[in-house]
Amino acid sequence: MTIDLAALPHDFLWGTATAAYQIEGAVAEDGRSPSIWDTFSHTPGKVANGDTGDIACDHYHRWREDIALMRQLGTNAYRLSVAWPRIVPGGDGPVNPKGLDFYDQLIDALLDAGITPSVTLYHWDLPQVLQDRGGWPERDTAEHFAAYAETVAARLGDRVTHWTTLNEPLCSAWIGHLEGLMAPGLTDLTAAVRASYHLLLGHGLASKAIRAVAPGAQVGIVNNLSTIHPASDRPEDLAAARRMDGHTNRWWLDPVHGRGFPADMREVYGVELPEKPGDSAAIAAPLDWLGLNYYFPQTVADDPTGPAPYARAVRRPGVPRTGMDWEVDASGIETLLLRLTAEYGARKLYVTENGSAYPDTVRPDGTIDDPGRQDYLERHLAACASAARRGAPLAGYFAWSLLDNFEWAYGYDKRFGLVHVDYRTQARTIKGTGHRYAEIIRGHRDRVPKAA
Ligand code: FCB
Repeated sequence: MTIDLAALPHDFLWGTATAAYQIEGAVAEDGRSPSIWDTFSHTPGKVANGDTGDIACDHYHRWREDIALMRQLGTNAYRLSVAWPRIVPGGDGPVNPKGLDFYDQLIDALLDAGITPSVTLYHWDLPQVLQDRGGWPERDTAEHFAAYAETVAARLGDRVTHWTTLNEPLCSAWIGHLEGLMAPGLTDLTAAVRASYHLLLGHGLASKAIRAVAPGAQVGIVNNLSTIHPASDRPEDLAAARRMDGHTNRWWLDPVHGRGFPADMREVYGVELPEKPGDSAAIAAPLDWLGLNYYFPQTVADDPTGPAPYARAVRRPGVPRTGMDWEVDASGIETLLLRLTAEYGARKLYVTENGSAYPDTVRPDGTIDDPGRQDYLERHLAACASAARRGAPLAGYFAWSLLDNFEWAYGYDKRFGLVHVDYRTQARTIKGTGHRYAEIIRGHRDRVPKAA
């Protein structure tokens, strides 16, 4: 597959991404308190095989080795998340210096390795103590989030310029509070809508707090978006697709762009938003860039008796799927990058996550050939380059993920890594896709004129 590398800027960020709870382990070390994911994963029946993030990839102790892997891949950027319960174990109030020290040394080591850190402040690990006080459905949580963000930015902001407030607030709100398949595991539309509101408010308040203590910070938000297709031309299915677009895409994009929460979706949910004067402006705090996490498209049909947004996913026969049973459609990433450019006027875009899980077989000689994952990567990179060629201001791509890791409710069964992890020994092995990614990065770098 040819990837139009010439369409990508010379200073393109080639990265990998991870998240704290998925890789760190060391859940009770150095003053970390439990997060909602510790509670959820330890609740029987919530996660496949009863897996938890207690040890995960033991990155908390093996981070030096993991940075060495990034160097082997030739990446020049790394997207990580900071665990709120390590920094402010009580949710609000006293700061835990040991938590900050961990990320401080990690950032220094990344910079020494020539790797730009991109720091996400919330990748789903809300301190459990805040959940006990109501969690995201309560306004206080947004305020505590901003205070925590300020603490982290004050410590790391002299070296970190790339900041993400939230990762995929859709998952926190809809999957965590409406579908119940992620922490905190609720199935309550009112709680879900209130959570969505306070997440975006938290994003806005945190952006302002970061900028106040870290001048020069480049602040963005990361959304997982999908292209949405109606299952048929029936007006009911067309309307369902419009609702699903609102639920998945517009609800998260419109408010941060100063357009407010979409009126049609407010009506669909029928839940009063906990609005206060000044909130809309806070939510629409200026953005330096937008992050797109893209995995799959959705085809939906009308489902009047189902849960909001009354649209159900339809399985299209004969379409290739990953090990997650997610449809493979690289054109979706291109469509979304162009949509963010045209409809939302994005001035800078990053693909902050993209990747695929397939079962891996380790050969007797220890190597791992993973053609499905490699094909997915190449197709999506080609589509990204095509979007850039057509005018999308794409400044970087972060492959999900550096390592196989704790894939939330799917546990360790689903492997997204460019690097294989043997969970018995914690041995890391770069997979075929990792080697291919390194080759693509080299191919791009070779095109960049050397400074005189
Ligand atoms: C995204 C999450 C990330 C990972 C991938 C597969 O929704 O942000 O943590 O689990 O999916």
